[in-house]
This record gives sequence, structure tokens and C-alpha cells, in this order.
Amino acid sequence: MIQKKILVIMGSPRKGNTYRACEELRGAMEKELAVEFEYLWLADADLLPCRGCGACFVNGEDRCPIRDDAALIVQKMQEADGVVFASPVYGMNVTGQMKIFIDRLSYTFHRPQFFEKKALLLATAGMLGHGDVLKYLGMVARQWGFEVAGSAGLVTPDPLPPHRASKNREMITRAAADFAGALRRPARRSPGLWDVVMFHGQRAAFSNMESVFPADHRYWTEKGWFGRDARYFVDVPVNPLYHAIGIFVGWLSTRQMRKDLLAEGGGP
Ligand SMILES: Cc1cc2nc3c(=O)[nH]c(=O)nc-3n(C[C@H](O)[C@H](O)[C@H](O)COP(=O)(O)O)c2cc1C
Repeated sequence: MIQKKILVIMGSPRKGNTYRACEELRGAMEKELAVEFEYLWLADADLLPCRGCGACFVNGEDRCPIRDDAALIVQKMQEADGVVFASPVYGMNVTGQMKIFIDRLSYTFHRPQFFEKKALLLATAGMLGHGDVLKYLGMVARQWGFEVAGSAGLVTPDPLPPHRASKNREMITRAAADFAGALRRPARRSPGLWDVVMFHGQRAAFSNMESVFPADHRYWTEKGWFGRDARYFVDVPVNPLYHAIGIFVGWLSTRQMRKDLLAEGGGP
């Protein structure tokens, strides 16, 4: 049986509830298929906060002035079949470690690259905020190119009452089945309306803003995403209605951008 590589991007700084939940997930997945879990502890990684220079957006990620493990982390994600984005809720959002990681890879919002990968989202909370964290992590993963294949938002008060423990277990079992199903399936699911709209919106932006974002323009050109026939980042069936809405959004964005660029240039 082929073993699937799973990389856990761990946003918790300690081996606590989030780690235990990931280990439960591993146990549940092992019943479904052969998996190898690797933990990437962001708190221990050599990953410094973004300095905001924008060099990655404008000139490419290889121009980032920070020399640390960011590129190595991307390589690890590329080598995995599936990635688990795991974070406790801190102050109603992801942890600082997870946010630094997302900020450092922000150029991927412009130049998505993880189309072959499946993602699972996992959040733990003392009481609330896990829904918002899952929503945020889901948006990030989708924008980076992942197919989001499952999620689990767990409430983990201390001590953990039995009804919570069994509800969490149920959620992990369901998420493991969804994730395993997606990992077994080589084909990618068709994109949703939001994904198609984002594709056309970004396409309009980057085709009109070569001077502002040359690296993005280059990347999109190389990938063929500016081509007339391009319907999405990857060659999958796209719902014709979503496509029509996407084209309309692209047209609107282009019109707005041209107006803005003209206004900036002092035009009428
Ligand atoms: C600094 C900090 C901030 C937190 N903020 C929240 C919060 O906003 N909402 C919440 O429900 N729980 C919050 N918690 C509780 C954690 O989300 C919860 O205990 C989580 O399961 C911890 O995961 P861990 O054991 O993997 O560190 C917070 C905990 C810490 C340490």
C-alpha cells in the first residue's frame, strides 16, 4: 500500500490539546490508509516575522531579505501529499506563530502553488473562536491552491467533560474519513464559486498591473493563466455558471482598475 505523507503545520507552542487532537487524527487515519505524520513545530522553526518590504510580492520570494527556513518549509509542504493546518485559538484568532508563517508565505496568495495537495484544518479552543479560525485557515489554504478536504473545530476546556470528549472524537473521526477519502482520490474536485471568482479577479489584477507586480505577471504568464481558454488554475471541469460569473467579475475588476490607474496618472 502506498504511504501518504502528512505534514502537520503546528501553530501551538506546546504539546497540549492541539497536538493530542492531531495524534487522535493520526490514529483515526491509520484505520483508513497508510499514513506517515511529520510535525513542523512553528515555535521551534527558524522563521522570523515579515519585515514588510514587499520584495517577495514585487520581485519574487527569492528576493526576501530574511535568511531562515521559510523556503525549507515550502519544500516540505511540496513533498507532502497532505497538510494539516493546526492552531489553538489565541485571542479569537490563530496563534502568533501561525500568523508569522502565513505572513511569510503571503506571496502565495498571489502565486498559488499547492494544487496537488489536500489540506485539513484543525482548531482547538477553550470556549470560542474555533469557527473563525477554521474559516480563516480555510481561506488561506484555498487561496494557496490546496483542496480543503476536511476540518475539525474542537472545544477543549480543562477538565474535559465526557460529552465534549465524545463530540470531539466524532469530529476527528469524520475529518479523518474526509481527509483520507481526498488523499485516495487522485483527481481534484471542481472549484466552488468563490474559487472561480477569485481566479478571474486576480487574473484581471495581475494582467493590468505588470509594472506594480512584475513577479506575479511573470508567474501567471508562465502558467498560462492569462490565456483566453484558462478557466481555473488547474485543468478541472468548471461549472459554466461560475465561469460566466467569473468572467463578469474579471471584466468589472479590469474596468475599475483602469479607472484607478488613469486617476493615479492624473488623467480625467
Ligand atoms: C494566550 C492564549 C489565548 C487564548 N485565547 C482563547 C480564545 O480567544 N478563545 C478560546 O476559546 N480559548 C482561548 N485560549 C485557550 C486555548 O485556545 C485552548 O486551551 C487550546 O486548546 C490550547 O491549545 P494547546 O493546548 O495546543 O496549546 C487561549 C489560550 C492562551 C494560552
